[in-house]
Amino acid sequence: METIALNDAEFRQFRGLIHEVAGISLSDAKKPLVAGRLGKRLRQRGLTSYGDYFRLLQRESSEHQIAVDLLTTNETYFFREPKHFDFLRQLLQGELRSRPGPLRIWSGACSSGEEPYTIAMLLAEHLGQRPWEVLASDLSTRILEQARAGTYPLEEAEGIPRELLHKYCLKGTGRHEGLFGIDPVIAKRVHFSQINLNTTLPDVGQFDVIFLRNVMIYFNQDTKRKVMERLLAHLRPGGYFIISHSESLNGISDAVKVIKPSIYRKPDA
Ligand SMILES: C[S@@+](CC[C@H](N)C(=O)[O-])C[C@H]1O[C@@H](n2cnc3c(N)ncnc32)[C@H](O)[C@@H]1O
Repeated sequence: METIALNDAEFRQFRGLIHEVAGISLSDAKKPLVAGRLGKRLRQRGLTSYGDYFRLLQRESSEHQIAVDLLTTNETYFFREPKHFDFLRQLLQGELRSRPGPLRIWSGACSSGEEPYTIAMLLAEHLGQRPWEVLASDLSTRILEQARAGTYPLEEAEGIPRELLHKYCLKGTGRHEGLFGIDPVIAKRVHFSQINLNTTLPDVGQFDVIFLRNVMIYFNQDTKRKVMERLLAHLRPGGYFIISHSESLNGISDAVKVIKPSIYRKPDA
């Protein structure tokens, strides 16, 4: 099969598009990544240049979401950065244990669902029958479909502590052989929604804890500041904001105070 080249002008067009829509900033080094991710789609659509694909995007709004989905990076896994979940456990056994009303946690760039389901297992484990819910949102509709399905290859189960795996996951049989699923008893308390953090947010209410991990790395400083401002409006006073260990809020927001590396708290009102 003949390789289709992505020239610099075409790269700049796609870079502009993903920045405008998602706030994602792509450096020049990402040119091969863009070519690789869009190349297959271009062929599926019977096109012979990236420029033609960009023009098609202007005409077909339904293709827009497909291109955005292809340009997002969705790497994730269960119990990623386990210190955050140790911290959540402590909160659930202590400060948040007797908080009145339903406990609400938001996973703001949830990818294929491993992060919100990890949170849900801990909530179920520590809160018992007390009401709780998880909002799990992402920009990519394709990845949200996977997340809603809540089924994963068995290898992914390795990251889940044994007792939680046995209690909250179901091993697939028949046509689901080699897969496991999240038990509907907890999955039904995780609500998936498409939310673009780069635009005005819908009215999602107030949260006790917000996880926003491994997504701001793709944003420039200005976008990070705007995203933080939007999200912090939905964190209740005294609530916690958790980013990845590879990220920092230095120079981005001083509305929350660091209490441990990558864990922040909004001061009480
Ligand atoms: C690398 S994953 C992070 C998954 C998970 N939070 C974790 O730490 O494992 C980044 C996710 O951010 C999403 N994303 C990128 N830009 C976004 C935006 N503007 N609004 C919402 N989600 C976005 C991508 O679709 C992708 O699923």
